[in-house]
This record gives sequence, structure tokens and C-alpha cells, in this order.
Amino acid sequence: MTERESLLKEQAYKEVKKYEKLIQQDPYRLSYHLMPLVGLLNDPNGLIQFKGAYHVFYQWNPFDTAHGAKFWGHYSSVDMVNWKEEPIALAPSEWYEKNGCYSGSAIESDGKLYLFYTGNVKSDDGARETYQCLAVSTDGVHFEKKGPVLKLPDGYTAHFRDPKVWKKNDRWYMIIGAQTLEEEGAAVLFVSDDLYQWEELGPIAGSRKNGLGDFGYMWECPDLIQLQSKEVLLVSPQGLEPNGYLYNNLFQSGYFVGTLDYETAQYQHGDFVELDRGFDFYAPQTFRDESGRTILYAWMGITDESEPYQPTIANHWVHALTIPRELELRDGQIFQKPAAELKNLRKDEVFFDYGKHDSLDGVCAAEMELDFAEPVDGTFEINFRGEAVLSYDSSKLEISLQRRNMKTGLSEKRVCMLDKLSKLQIFMDHSSLEIFVNGGQEMFTARYFPQPEDQTISFNGTASFRLKKWSLGG
Ligand code: FRU
Repeated sequence: MTERESLLKEQAYKEVKKYEKLIQQDPYRLSYHLMPLVGLLNDPNGLIQFKGAYHVFYQWNPFDTAHGAKFWGHYSSVDMVNWKEEPIALAPSEWYEKNGCYSGSAIESDGKLYLFYTGNVKSDDGARETYQCLAVSTDGVHFEKKGPVLKLPDGYTAHFRDPKVWKKNDRWYMIIGAQTLEEEGAAVLFVSDDLYQWEELGPIAGSRKNGLGDFGYMWECPDLIQLQSKEVLLVSPQGLEPNGYLYNNLFQSGYFVGTLDYETAQYQHGDFVELDRGFDFYAPQTFRDESGRTILYAWMGITDESEPYQPTIANHWVHALTIPRELELRDGQIFQKPAAELKNLRKDEVFFDYGKHDSLDGVCAAEMELDFAEPVDGTFEINFRGEAVLSYDSSKLEISLQRRNMKTGLSEKRVCMLDKLSKLQIFMDHSSLEIFVNGGQEMFTARYFPQPEDQTISFNGTASFRLKKWSLGG
């Protein structure tokens, strides 16, 4: 470790110590989600199961609740429920990453853990440079930086980042989020046999490619995965205009389902589908675990510099990751379900058989399952602690989530079409909601900030449903 790297890490730990007590007493601190120890967390990075243990790294600015020169924070777990804080994995100490060790991914090869990430460099005049870098570890905890392995190729601006690496037919592939010189978003594919030398195969998808039309000025955090026999490209495009109920957050995260020809880098794909209909979901990343599941984590937040306000900022921390979700492709559509391990968090089951139920008290960090006797006919509403409302209206075939905007105090809403409502699975943590609709056919993810003492959930509507509730964590 260079002197500068150990100094930066030391400074980060000082920040952690300084605000530790203040942060622990924050009523909006979450019980079972991964959060920054201090400062700002954004994208999940380097997700992997390595030598049995799950590793989650994350974009981290320990010095501020705003974006800045990012570190990679690190948690590990053997059961995806109990997490251990690991030493900081990467600090932006070297010339090729001095303004941030930006997002990236992890793979295992020959018993070693390889992290690929973007070295972000900004000069005083605002110009940007980008380097795709490598760091290697034998124990999964201490990393040796190998420096840049890929420079910016021709045809792209320096908005070129977030390498995701995987193996296919004994070769390594890397997909990178990019902006072309025409300022259009793209996902660019590379190949390697040794993880150090990378050859460009070309952009496989992008704005104006494959009949997409104008589809954003930059694509962040691409992830190419195989689900069933399809290649699914997850990506977070910037610059989509709102279109009815679609694309109402500042930036989006979604996917294309298609078929990739690895030789010619031709990717035939369908339409872009948003992965989440809520307010706070961005930069998802997946990994395949040892049991073959494809598991997704996302940032439960979004970059919106115009609206940075969240009450936790007063306590020197902001944002969290989602719970882990298993992905399945059914009839060309991604379904998300909570990782089965989360059942191990369940305590104090409450059960009400089919009928009409009015309210529940003392619900703060909990999981609820609602099974409707018949698909909802008419309207049905859940009011979460007086601060957010989920509504379904069968006459409009619409489901929506409404919450109070923390900056303006006004109510805001996200809506999506839903042909029928038969099941809800809801994860609430002190200041978050993750709502799985009809077994993960649609998702709503949001942060919300209810009065800590208001812990009432009320149900409105005539639908008969069976209700199960568990407390999760403290
Ligand atoms: C997405 C993103 C990435 C980048 C990282 C920086 O939220 O902007 O493109 O690598 O965050 O923290």
C-alpha cells in the first residue's frame, strides 16, 4: 500500500469515528440494509461469492454527503443476512484514479479475486480522463492495485466507465458504459484471454442503435447477464425524457432482452423495460452465486444534484443499497424476488386469515405478505406511516406509489399499468420501502421519512386478503 493510500484510509476512518455516535442514534438508520458508515454511498460494486463468502463493495465518499472522489467500501457475509465490515478495499490514491475509484465489478480466477473499476481523473480545467483499472486479492480483503488495463478507445468521450466482467466459453468479456463523440449513450464490449490485454469488439447497444431512436446521452453501469438462453443487458441510461408514466426519475435503470453473437458483437434486443417503478433505484449490478442464482443489488437512491435533501444528511450519512433480489426471466420479462436468505430475519409472525383488515401498529422494520382471495376489484390502498401510499385501481389497471417530497413538502407519485393485483410482498425498513407486486412482476422502491413515532399501516378497500407480518431486525 502506498503512503498516500494508507493516509486516505486513515482519514476516512477518522470521519467514521467522528460521526459514529450521531449516526447510530438516527431514527432513519436502516435495520437490515447495507449503508455507509459515514458520508455518501452510491452504486453497489464488485458483487461476488468468493471462497464461499458473499462480498458487496460500494461507491463511498466518506468525507461528505455529496459525490466526490470515491472509495470502495466493503462488506462480506456468509449468509447474506449478517454482514461484516471489511477494511476499505480501494482508496483513490494513485494518479490514474485521483478523483475516484469509480464503479466496477469482480471476478474470480485461479483462486484470486479481481476487481475491475474505473479510475476517474479530472484536471483543474474540468477535463476528464478515464482508465479501466485492476486490483487483485488472494484473501478477498487486501487488494494490490495493478493500474490501468484499458485506455479510452477512439470514438468515445471520457464518460466511459463501470466495467462489468464475466467469463463465457473460456474467454473473458467486459462491457463498459459509454458516451460516443456524438454524445449518445452506448454499451461497449471487449474481450480478453488473460484479464490484462483487452481488445474492443464494438458497441453492442446504444442510443440510435437497433432502432432505439434517441435514447440518452450516456449509459452508466451496464451489466450483461444470461437468463435462460437470453442475453439480458441491464443499463442505467442518462437523458431519457419523461414519457407518460415512464422515465419520471432523473435517470433510469432497466433492461433489454436479446441475443448476443459474441463473435460479431451483434446484439438483437427488444424494448427497454424499467426495472423499478419507484423513486429510488439506480445502478443495479448482479452476480451469479455458487448455487447458480442471479442476484441483484441496486443503489436505493439516485443522482439528483438538484434535490439532494434527505434528513439523514444532518447526521452526516446518506443512501443505502436495496435488499438482495433474485432475478428470473419469465416470458421475456424479469421478475424479482427477495433472496430466500432474508426469511432468516423473520421474527414474531403475525397472521390474519382471509378477510378485510384495517390496520397494523408498531410496524417499522418489517416484512408483510398480502395474498388477495380474488384479484382486487375496485380500489385498494395501503398507507405507510402517514407518509407514503400504495394504491391500486382495477378500473384503470394502475398501481401507484405516492410519497411526500422531502424538499418541497408536496406529494409526488409514480404509476405503472398492472392488469391485476393478486399479491404484495413488502419490505419496510425505518426509512425505506421495497414493494414486490404479484411475485416481483413489478417493483416499487423508495426511501421515505415518516415521523419515527408513527408506526401505523392502514389498509383501505373492500378486498379480502390474508396477511402475514414479521418484524425484521430492530
Ligand atoms: C452511477 C455512477 C457511475 C460511476 C459512479 C461514480 O451512479 O455515476 O457511472 O462510476 O456512479 O460514483
